[in-house]
Amino acid sequence: MRLVLLGAPGSGKGTQAARLKDHLQVPHISTGDLLRAEVAAGSKLGLEAKEVMARGELVSDAILLGMLEDRFSRPDTAGGFILDGYPRNLAQADALDALLNRIGQPMDFAVQLEVATELLVERIAGRAQAEGRADDNPESVRKRLHVYETSTAPVIEFYRQHGQLTVVDGVGTMDEVFTRIVEAIEPVREVG
Ligand code: AP5
Repeated sequence: MRLVLLGAPGSGKGTQAARLKDHLQVPHISTGDLLRAEVAAGSKLGLEAKEVMARGELVSDAILLGMLEDRFSRPDTAGGFILDGYPRNLAQADALDALLNRIGQPMDFAVQLEVATELLVERIAGRAQAEGRADDNPESVRKRLHVYETSTAPVIEFYRQHGQLTVVDGVGTMDEVFTRIVEAIEPVREVG
C-alpha cells in the first residue's frame, strides 16, 4: 500500500502515520522528521533548512526532492510506504508523481485529515508546552497555516482529480481517527 497523508499542521498526520505503519507494515516517511534529523545532525542540508523551518516556511523543492529520491532508493519501501509532509505544493505533487512512476510505484491513495483551525492551534499549543518544537511558536504556526492554505491546499485538488482522495474527519480521539482511516483504506487494500 502506497499512501500519502495530507492535512494542515496539527491535523494528526504524524500521529496517525505512526499507527498506520504498524497496521500496514510499511515504513513511515515524514519529510519533517527527515529534515529535523538533518538539523539535529548539523549537516549542510540541516544548516540550510534550520532557519527556514523555524520561520514556518517551506524548504526548497530541490532539497526535498533529493531527500525523497534518496529515501525511496532504500529497499524497505519496495512493499509500500506512508508519506507524511510531502507534497506541499503543486510542483512537489508533479515531481512525486513523476518519481513514483519512474520507479514503478505509483501512489494508491491519499487521505486528507480535516480539522478546524481553532483545534489545530490548540493541539500545536499543547505540543509546544510538552515538546518545545522550534516551529511551534505562535508566529511560525500562523505562517505554517498560511503556507498550508495558499500552497498545500491545491495539492488536495490534485489527488481529487486523480481519483485518489478520501477525506477523513480528523476530530475525535486518536483511536477514533485511526479507525476511520483504516475503514477508508480497507477497500483499496482488498483491490490491491
Ligand atoms: P512537518 O513536520 O511536516 O510539520 P507540519 O506539517 O506542520 O505538521 P505537524 O507535525 O505540526 O502536524 P501533524 O499533522 O503531523 O500532527 P501531529 O500528529 O504531529 O514539517 C515541519 C517543517 O518542515 C515545515 O514547516 C517546513 O518548513 C519543512 N518541510 C517539511 N516537509 C516539507 C516539504 N515537503 N517541503 C518543504 N518544506 C517542508 O499532531 C499534532 C499534535 O496534536 C501532537 O501533539 C499530537 O499528539 C496531537 N494530536 C494528534 N491527533 C490528535 C487527536 N486526535 N486528538 C488530540 N490530540 C491529537
